[in-house]
Amino acid sequence: MKILLVGNGGREHAIAAALSRSRLHPELIAYMSTLNPAIAALSAKTQMGSMKTPESIADFAWQNRVDLAVVGPEEPLVHGAADALHRKGIPTVGPRQDLARMEGDKTFLREVVARWAPEANPGFRVCHSSQDVRKALVELGDVAVKPLGLTSGKGVRVMGIQLDTAADAEAYAVELINAQGNVLLEEKLIGEEFSQIVFTDGIRMVPMPLVQDAKCAFNGDTGPMTGGMGTFSMPNHTLPFVPEDQLQQARALLFKIIMGAQEQTGQRYHGVLYGQFMVTRNGPRIVETNVRLGDPEAINLMALLKSDPVETFMSATCGLPEVVEFENMASVAKYLVPQGYPEKSERGEPVSIDMDMLRKAGLELILANGDPSSGDGRLAPTGSRFAALLALRPELAAAEEAVESMLEQMALPGLRHRSDIAKPGSLQAKITRIQNLLN
Ligand code: AMP
Ligand code: GLY
Repeated sequence: MKILLVGNGGREHAIAAALSRSRLHPELIAYMSTLNPAIAALSAKTQMGSMKTPESIADFAWQNRVDLAVVGPEEPLVHGAADALHRKGIPTVGPRQDLARMEGDKTFLREVVARWAPEANPGFRVCHSSQDVRKALVELGDVAVKPLGLTSGKGVRVMGIQLDTAADAEAYAVELINAQGNVLLEEKLIGEEFSQIVFTDGIRMVPMPLVQDAKCAFNGDTGPMTGGMGTFSMPNHTLPFVPEDQLQQARALLFKIIMGAQEQTGQRYHGVLYGQFMVTRNGPRIVETNVRLGDPEAINLMALLKSDPVETFMSATCGLPEVVEFENMASVAKYLVPQGYPEKSERGEPVSIDMDMLRKAGLELILANGDPSSGDGRLAPTGSRFAALLALRPELAAAEEAVESMLEQMALPGLRHRSDIAKPGSLQAKITRIQNLLN
């Protein structure tokens, strides 16, 4: 059995590691835009190419007679990789271009939600001029300002976090209009976020454990938005600040959104859908959807996946089982990033990682990038998020401690991480905040 994996970040390393543990012993071949040495080490063959050229992805799959393609990132999906693979008759995990608009086009998502699950939408306005922006600010109050296209989680600024005043919000919104013609303003949601990622074959939807990602660059949820600094999940697969009724509502909303998007596009959704939700006073609200696994969420989820990973991905293309099993363990993943991330992505000096030491401590390293050209086994961080340390333990505090003490021991020069993620104190603060908000 041969599987094509498209993509070269931490998420794809996590997927490759999961597929490699399958009892079906698949042969992996990897299509990447830049070489990820950890994915290459798990692959029989690699090909470098653009994520924006669906035909070159499909040709590589065809020439290698793969049984299945798993597309990790959103970029190739938004450019039509699944359509090109389907034209060659290759079962593909990842939606076609029309459905990938659920991530690639924020207005499309808001319209789908408005039609099929309106209660999940925050107030929002698409603005094309500074007059529009001023009117929206009056109508919506505090807002999140968002570019409309793909941003890899960056580019969003929220009042009270990255924007101090309404004047700052207006200035940033106008800057985006000047650059790209439009901007999305959304009512600022107040609550706690959670990621509900699901497998779906377009008929069934099977939820994965809840995960929370820390999006801001610095401790205490401060600083600019990043792709995600670190994630955690609990042994019971839910999160202590997500009330059960809101979780059930969120899942029902996500199912309606999948069904609605299919109705609207006339296309069936095969793959993974990521619902980013906020628990609010008024019930769960959808912050965004992604048409892929999250990163870092994939690092937790792929390690926890207990059902056979190849069978599970395969079944998303042709009929999911009722249940997909995950380990009842807590998980913590923290990314090591260059000092200037996300604003200045600088190449770092090569670092050496003692994989034996990590294995002995029961930790896993997931690599997002790394240039091996020093030739001595060391890897140079190439700019964005570099690598994540992951621990699975019966309890959250133990997983967090395992990751922290190893990061301290490794002391990699030029790299930093968020030390507050999944700490018992920060978790308790979230629980208290939600209790106060809901009572
Ligand atoms: P997005 O790329 O849409 O997921 O936005 C990135 C991050 O910005 C989210 O994970 C939230 O932390 C924050 N955010 C986005 N939209 C809102 C909103 N309407 N209210 C409050 N925070 C938001
Ligand atoms: N963890 C956020 C994302 O994958 O977009």
